[in-house]
Amino acid sequence: MSHIVLDHPLVHHKLSYLRDRKTSGSQFRLLVEELGMLLAVEATRVLPTESVAIETPLERTQARRLLPLDSVLVPVLRAGLGLVPSFLKLLPTAKVGHLGLYRDHNTLVPVPYYRNFPPILEERHVFVLDPMLATGGSASEAVRQLKSAGARTITLASVLAAPEGIERVQNDHPDLRIVVAAVDRCLNERGYILPGLGDAGDRMFGTT
Ligand code: PRP
Ligand code: URA
Repeated sequence: MSHIVLDHPLVHHKLSYLRDRKTSGSQFRLLVEELGMLLAVEATRVLPTESVAIETPLERTQARRLLPLDSVLVPVLRAGLGLVPSFLKLLPTAKVGHLGLYRDHNTLVPVPYYRNFPPILEERHVFVLDPMLATGGSASEAVRQLKSAGARTITLASVLAAPEGIERVQNDHPDLRIVVAAVDRCLNERGYILPGLGDAGDRMFGTT
C-alpha cells in the first residue's frame, strides 16, 4: 500500500519549530500535539460511517456518523504518548493500548518491555502512534504484535519518516496504511533521521 504524506502549510510551519534545537520541551510537546491533530484528520479518513436521520432546527435530513465501533489507539512508548491527546480529542471513545519498545543503541533492534492491548481488536480500526519512523524496526514490530493479537485493519501515524523506514515497513506489512507528516532525506550511521529533529522521546520528556 502506498503511504500518504501530509503536504500542508501548517505542517511545514510547525515542523520548522519542532526541528529547531532551540525549541523548549513544553513547546515541543505542544507542537507534537498540533501535528497529531493534522495527522489524525488524515489517518481517520478511512473510518466507516453510516447514514442517520436527524432533525435540524429547520427540517429532517440524513447525516453521516461514525459506526458505533470504537477505534483503538496504540502509542509506541515513549514518544508515541505525545500523539494520544490529539487522537483522543477527535475520537473520544477510542480505547488506548500501550506498547513499550526501545531501540537497542548498538543494534537498532527494538526491545519490547511492556504490552497492554484492549480486547476485540479484530473488528476495530487500530491506529499505531509513533512520531518517528526511522529504520522501521519499531513500527514493524508494533504491527506484528498487533496482528498476532488479532488486529486486521491498521494505520500507522508518524510525524517524521525516513525513506528506509517506509520501505522496511511496507515490505514487512504490505497491507499497512501509513500516514506521515513529512519524509526526510535519509538515516545517519546511528539510525537517526536527517535532517530530523533528534531523539523525540528525549526532547519530549527532557531526558537528554
Ligand atoms: C524512537 C521512536 C520510535 C523509534 C523509531 O523510540 O519513538 O519508536 O525510535 O526508530 P526505528 O524506526 O529505527 O525503530 P526510542 O527507541 O528512542 O524510545 P523512546 O521513545 O522511549 O525514546
Ligand atoms: N528515533 C528518534 O527519536 N529520532 C530519530 O531520528 C530516530 C529514531
